[in-house]
Order: sequence, then structure tokens, then C-alpha cells
Amino acid sequence: MKATIFVLNGPNLNMLGQREPEIYGADTLADVKKRCATKAAALGLEIDFRQSNHEGDLVSWLQEARDAASGVVLNAAGYTHTSVAIRDAVLACEKPVIEVHLSNPYSREEFRQHSFISDVAAGVICGLAGKGYELALDALADICGVSDT
Ligand code: DQA
Repeated sequence: MKATIFVLNGPNLNMLGQREPEIYGADTLADVKKRCATKAAALGLEIDFRQSNHEGDLVSWLQEARDAASGVVLNAAGYTHTSVAIRDAVLACEKPVIEVHLSNPYSREEFRQHSFISDVAAGVICGLAGKGYELALDALADICGVSDT
């Protein structure tokens, strides 16, 4: 059976392509999903790609990942910088979570330079747009022991 990776996206990421394209690029979330699906197929992974504007959905999905996923790619978007509940859920899921950001928060406003997730994540990838999601899937394939040969 293929390992399943949850790819979880937080608030406003449904507006990718329209939202501040000078920061987040022209790709839509559907484009990011397509990239992930292609990469996952090459790696022999199954992905479950989701987006919500609600903090509690992200918390519930991380809890679900405890039993239903081998790892998680998480772009918690604005909640990255505010949410103790999402941090707690990352810890509670006891699965490797890779934090991803399309932009590089460290080159932006000071409030984006603190993440409640980074120090409990298995890894952090930022500033590489949609490519970061693919790299996160690569890393999870390694961490979960899935071979791409
Ligand atoms: C983001 C960065 C966050 O600071 C911001 O609130 C987002 C998107 C990114 O992918 O670059 O909504 O997570």
C-alpha cells in the first residue's frame, strides 16, 4: 500500500494567483496541487491535498493525520505566526511535518519572522514558491523510507 501524505493549506491560499502575485506568484492552488500530484506519483506516494480558511479544520486534519497519514506538508499561512493550537496539533499527530511557505517570511515583515511551527517541524522550506511543496514531498519520501526507484 502506498504511503499517504497530507498536504494541508491554510487561510487565503485558496486565492493564490489572484492574491498579491508579486509575493506569491501567478500559480493558483490548483497548479500547486497538480505539481504535488505529479511529484507524488513519481515518488510512489498518495497525497490528500486540502485547504481551509479555518484554524480548527487544520487542527482536526493534523489529528486525523496521526492515523491516516505517514507525514504532512503544512503551509499554515497566517496561522503560522499566531497559532499555539496548530503547533500543539503538529506535536499531537506524532508524524513528520514539513513546514512550507511559498514566500520567504524572513525577508518580509518582522511579525512573519516568528513561526509557532518551525521548532516542532521535521523541516522548513520557504521562498521557493510551488517548488517547495515538491521538495517537501521528496524529503518525506526519504523520511518515511519510500523509494523512488
Ligand atoms: C505564507 C506566508 C505567511 O506569512 C502568509 O501569512 C501566508 C502565506 C507563504 O506561503 O508564503 O498566507 O505561508
